[in-house]
Amino acid sequence: MKEKIYLYPIWVRIWHWLNALLFLLLVLTGLSMQYAAKDSLLFPFNVSVTVHNTCGIILVFNFLFFAFANRFTWNGKYYNIRWKRYGKELWRQIRFYSYGIFKKEPHPFPVTKKRKFNPLQQLSYVIAMYILIPLIIISGIGLLFPEITLNVLFGKSGIWLTDLFHQFLGFSLTIFWLIHLYFCTIGKTATSNFKSMIDGWH
Ligand code: HEM
Repeated sequence: MKEKIYLYPIWVRIWHWLNALLFLLLVLTGLSMQYAAKDSLLFPFNVSVTVHNTCGIILVFNFLFFAFANRFTWNGKYYNIRWKRYGKELWRQIRFYSYGIFKKEPHPFPVTKKRKFNPLQQLSYVIAMYILIPLIIISGIGLLFPEITLNVLFGKSGIWLTDLFHQFLGFSLTIFWLIHLYFCTIGKTATSNFKSMIDGWH
């Protein structure tokens, strides 16, 4: 039997599951507001707005907690991409997922205490957590406080453009999330990664 490694400290797990719950509520209420024809609502419009705004504000604090804790703990090192050999490593991982895995080849980057994420995982987490989430937060703040948003940009309404951008980011993060869920099932067993995110041990 392989050695067990403690990979997900309690703060990562609390941050992660709160983030997942908020994300789910934000997607459901966001969709509900988007398709707001009266008879096709998931929730009444005003309930969606209140829940969406509240979850968005909690998400901001949860994100700041994540960014701060990652900055000052070992966990942040897993998000540092070493660009020098990154191209080759990414290619090895893509080759594994598209070919090697079906031939039962060993994982090119087995999980160790030093390397928690494979190169594809690492890239997707960096894009989601350090690009898409900050942008969706900034555009969300622009929608929550329209008085600080530009009135007109390139001859179009600033609020409309901000809204469009916010929705684009919402759809992008939803796609990330679905791919994330799928890849989480490719562990030692289909549920082992989920158990790790619950008890902390890989
Ligand atoms: C029902 C929703 C979700 C489930 C079941 C889930 C599941 C998991 C699992 C099992 C892991 C551990 C495996 C790994 O390290 O890859 C993980 C890690 C992670 N997930 Fe999720 N996830 C969900 C939603 C999300 C969302 C919405 C985001 C971001 C927008 C996210 C971002 C992350 C990140 C950044 C990690 C790595 C955390 C770290 O160890 O530093 N997850 N997730």
